[in-house]
Amino acid sequence: TKIAVFASGNGSNFQAIVDAIAANKLAAEIMLVVADKPKAFVLERAKKSGVASFSFVPSEYESKELYEEMLKEKLQKLGVEWIVLAGYMRLIGPVLLRAYENRIVNIHPSVLPAFPGKDAIGQTLAAGAENAGVTVHYVDAGMDTGSIIAQQSFPVLGRGREEVEHQIHQIEHELYPATLQQLFDR
Ligand code: GRF
Repeated sequence: TKIAVFASGNGSNFQAIVDAIAANKLAAEIMLVVADKPKAFVLERAKKSGVASFSFVPSEYESKELYEEMLKEKLQKLGVEWIVLAGYMRLIGPVLLRAYENRIVNIHPSVLPAFPGKDAIGQTLAAGAENAGVTVHYVDAGMDTGSIIAQQSFPVLGRGREEVEHQIHQIEHELYPATLQQLFDR
């Protein structure tokens, strides 16, 4: 299965996908990493892993529609079948949603529908929630609102942010590749 990974930052989930492919746990080929920030660390990871990457600056385009048309063309040329969001901090617009209907997924660090949006871990802890967790979901036009594919949670009361964050990332790095494999097997 040919995929593109969209990311804005560190890219540890991208790395987990690369590692899962190398370990034959995930039958996929990353055709392109797309970053909306030319300095995102994920681009260095891509280079090291020998994965093609592309970065762009959204503000240099007149509209989301225009940069998504540009992205769509690139992805289609490469035969990309699924878009995997991994820390991509932008909403996907109608152009890509239409071109990749039910073929865009995201991972979010909360037990959705609780705590969508930015700093979900901070939101979870600030609310005094009993559980923190991770959700993999289909992407729609909303912010972390698409239908849920997989979820994992753990008790969090009284634990510190660093510990919780660490556990979230551990879960993400297992759950995302495993969930992608299930989706691609369907
Ligand atoms: C992850 O926590 C993911 O759930 C959220 O953004 C973070 C990205 O981390 N959407 P990384 O860039 O993959 O390390």
